[in-house]
Amino acid sequence: MSLPSDFVWGAATAAYQIEGAVDEDGRGESVWDRFCATPGKVRNGDSGAVACDFYHRYPEDIALMRELGLHAFRFSIAWPRIFPTGSGRVNEAGLDFYDRLVDELLANNITPFPTLFHWDTPQALEDAGGWTSRATAEAFVEYAEVVGARLGDRITHWVTHNEPWVVAWIGHAWGQHAPGRTSETDAIAAAHHLLLSHGWAVDALRRVAPKAEVGIVLNLEHVDARSDAPADLDAAREMDGMANRWYLDPLFHGAYPADLLERYKPPVQDGDLEAISTPIDFLGVNNYFRFVVEASSNGGGPHVVHDPEWERTDMDWEVYPEGLYQLLVRVARDYDPPALYVTENGAAFGDVRSHDARVHDLERTAYIESHIDAVRRAAADGVPMKGYFVWSLLDNFEWSLGYSKRFGIVYIDYPTLERVPKDSFYRYRDLIANGA
Ligand code: FCB
Repeated sequence: MSLPSDFVWGAATAAYQIEGAVDEDGRGESVWDRFCATPGKVRNGDSGAVACDFYHRYPEDIALMRELGLHAFRFSIAWPRIFPTGSGRVNEAGLDFYDRLVDELLANNITPFPTLFHWDTPQALEDAGGWTSRATAEAFVEYAEVVGARLGDRITHWVTHNEPWVVAWIGHAWGQHAPGRTSETDAIAAAHHLLLSHGWAVDALRRVAPKAEVGIVLNLEHVDARSDAPADLDAAREMDGMANRWYLDPLFHGAYPADLLERYKPPVQDGDLEAISTPIDFLGVNNYFRFVVEASSNGGGPHVVHDPEWERTDMDWEVYPEGLYQLLVRVARDYDPPALYVTENGAAFGDVRSHDARVHDLERTAYIESHIDAVRRAAADGVPMKGYFVWSLLDNFEWSLGYSKRFGIVYIDYPTLERVPKDSFYRYRDLIANGA
């Protein structure tokens, strides 16, 4: 009974993970096309070239959303469809696709919840320095203005970026995501320019899109120390700093965390932190697991450990709904965002179609129920929870793991692209119908 009556029930996706049609209607190359084409980067040599073929099948998928009773659909706009060469020339055919998608959603009473950047940087921008360069932040604002001007009459909720931590660290320091760079200096620069371009884009969207409520999506994780030993507690604080405070502090307090600035030097110029901390209308939280950490034996920073007490998903991520509750309460207490959405939450398990042709995904169903319960408890404790988006509507391209991980509440039979709602789909439908 604790969720507000206008609580938004949604499902989330991202362009490169579902659309396919990478060469159609003038789309340019993205860093993920390039990364997938580089041998050894993505499991099985998979790519998003076809994915779920959402680009052509979106009417069928919106019919599924309607059957689900979905209130809102979180998707992302593929920047290289709009700016095939990163900046300058606008590709109207790319805008037309999102125009049709938005209209079809609205015709079915589903609120479109677009994200401007879910990792598919135009390759042309990467070639000129990518997110390590301020010029990419400037190009992002140009893109935000163009999309805002075209869709802003119908969009009420805009997300600038998805998970800057992942782009910065997995993509720029560890090389496991596009663009595949391996430099901590690049990671810190990328994180800064992502945050900066977010702040600039908030202003740009408010200028061109009259209904704009604007937010950003962060991946955040509750961090527990393995023991009360001071070294483990320090490790947990450092982990929390790297994963959470590095983004939350500048966005909400206008400063990077002092304890980490001793080691990392973001390329801050005058006015950047003011821009980054431009007030937002909502914060989106993506959360899948918590971290348990201890101090490394060699003094090398936090070391993640597995607590054997808790079940793990096919991603080897811990199932710990209490972590989501703790996280939401803490974010509300320390940062006081005006509104909070869980913009992604869900689980991969090794689904199979059984003899009755259905997918009985008991673990995913339990995962979703227990995490929605955590959201409900947070709301009951006064956290301004406005919505929950399950990741994901469809099984899809899971980045460097290709199609080997299934997160959908709808199963995709990749050889035929048939959609098969899993048991979790029907359970989520019932939760939505009953206001959870
Ligand atoms: C998040 C991403 C999303 C998806 C899920 C499983 O980090 O935002 O695209 O891959 O993880």
